[in-house]
Amino acid sequence: MKILYAASEAYPLIKTGGLGDVVYSLPRALNRLGDSVRLVLPGYGQVLDEAGPLDVVAEWDIPGAGTVHHVRILQTQLEGLGERLYLVEVPALFGRPGNPYVQENGIDWPDNAERFTVFSRAVAMLALQSPDPDWQAELVHCHDWQTGLVAAFLSQSPQSPATVFTIHNLSYDGYFSHQDFTRLHLPAAWWSPDYIEFYGGFSMLKAGLVFSDRVTTVSPSYAKEICTPEFGYRFDGLLMFMGDKLTGILNGIDLDTWNPASDRYLAAHYGAIRNRIKSKRINKTDLLQTVGLPDNDAPLLGFIGRLVHQKGIDLVATMLPELFEQSTAQVVILGSGDKLFESSLLALAKQHPERLHVFIGYSESLAHKIEAGCDLFLMPSRFEPCGLNQMYSLHYGTPPIVNDTGGLADTVVDTTPTTLKNRTANGFVFRETSADALLDCTLRALDCLAHPRAWHQVCRTGMQQALGWEASARHYQQLYQLEISP
Ligand code: ADP
Ligand code: GLC
Repeated sequence: MKILYAASEAYPLIKTGGLGDVVYSLPRALNRLGDSVRLVLPGYGQVLDEAGPLDVVAEWDIPGAGTVHHVRILQTQLEGLGERLYLVEVPALFGRPGNPYVQENGIDWPDNAERFTVFSRAVAMLALQSPDPDWQAELVHCHDWQTGLVAAFLSQSPQSPATVFTIHNLSYDGYFSHQDFTRLHLPAAWWSPDYIEFYGGFSMLKAGLVFSDRVTTVSPSYAKEICTPEFGYRFDGLLMFMGDKLTGILNGIDLDTWNPASDRYLAAHYGAIRNRIKSKRINKTDLLQTVGLPDNDAPLLGFIGRLVHQKGIDLVATMLPELFEQSTAQVVILGSGDKLFESSLLALAKQHPERLHVFIGYSESLAHKIEAGCDLFLMPSRFEPCGLNQMYSLHYGTPPIVNDTGGLADTVVDTTPTTLKNRTANGFVFRETSADALLDCTLRALDCLAHPRAWHQVCRTGMQQALGWEASARHYQQLYQLEISP
């Protein structure tokens, strides 16, 4: 099957979170199963610099907000990044350095509506007018709000390929004003609650939901949760009425990139049985040296993620002083995001320099070292569409401590006498979103760590879990098949 994937980020070229990982690894899994997936991304300056030699395969004039942009479609072939990679080059919109979505101060780029409308128009044109006579997309699979308008533009053509839209995070809805709607020359008929109008403005995510043939999200539990007001971000009514147009398919992890037996960032390699205890010790020492924490024998807990309300980082900050009182645990935190969270974590680290290390920024190598070197991994998200970090930590023998929500609930089994007995326990789950519940759960996990027999069983169960992409990729294939078969 010929499938065009459209997204705003893809590892290793440009990544801010799990979306980048999925857009890299799911096409790889599908191509391995015999599909032909090509990928299209915005031509960010940083991406053009890193992508190597590029061919210009199409040039179009595309309307933006008040101007017409000369858009070039560049093509390359990069190991692992789709079967081909297309980049939409519009220097005025994507040629700037920095984060793809926000400025240095954390505030959205002011022209995001225009940037991702022009990108979506270009993707739709690429799908309809393939520059390669031997390759015509049968299906276009779009990811998150930045590509929401693709299916809307495609719906204007009678030859439109089938469309699938995946929600990676409903709380980012691509919401813009009526003024933007007009400036971007979107069809007047779309300004309706039945189409993309949304509470007085319009939502690009809603465009993806309304115009696509199928909607998926990244775990079965999140697919149910988003049909409720608590997690639905005002889309719950629309999603609830979708019936089986909406499916939840659990993400997988890329076992080439995230594999403790071959990970290039680790001081020592290991498997579920082979060298695990010895190598994890070496990795712990290496991590402690890297971050400058002192105690090799104290339990070590890690956190990696965007420092935003979703991830429950405030719950971690609230519980840490009490955790330090009640245990000898040390903690390492890697992340960036909300400036308030960043500064409160740095202040906390200053108060507890022997117990807490906070690294504000993005570091691929530190992320891998934390997954391997810690004893436990903290992921107390308020909601989590899927979550990759808890799966990486399961696979690295670093049991996760998670809230009972979304993809966390679908991948982590709490350690109890029953789950130890039936050998399903792989982590620690709390069920009330509060710092107290997180603290209790963390203390429970530390207690388990002190009981080697139970502890090693929990670690091994996580490591032996099937977390790769194959099963989920096959599930996507079945879904695609439903749309393209007559
Ligand atoms: P989300 O997509 O909501 O951010 P996920 O758990 O699905 O959460 O994926 C996060 C991905 O981003 C993981 O690959 C994680 O290692 C990575 N990541 C997040 N923050 C950082 C950081 N500061 N440095 C390195 N990697 C990070
Ligand atoms: C989003 C979600 C995360 C998910 C990732 C990849 O960023 O917040 O839960 O794992 O997308 O699908």
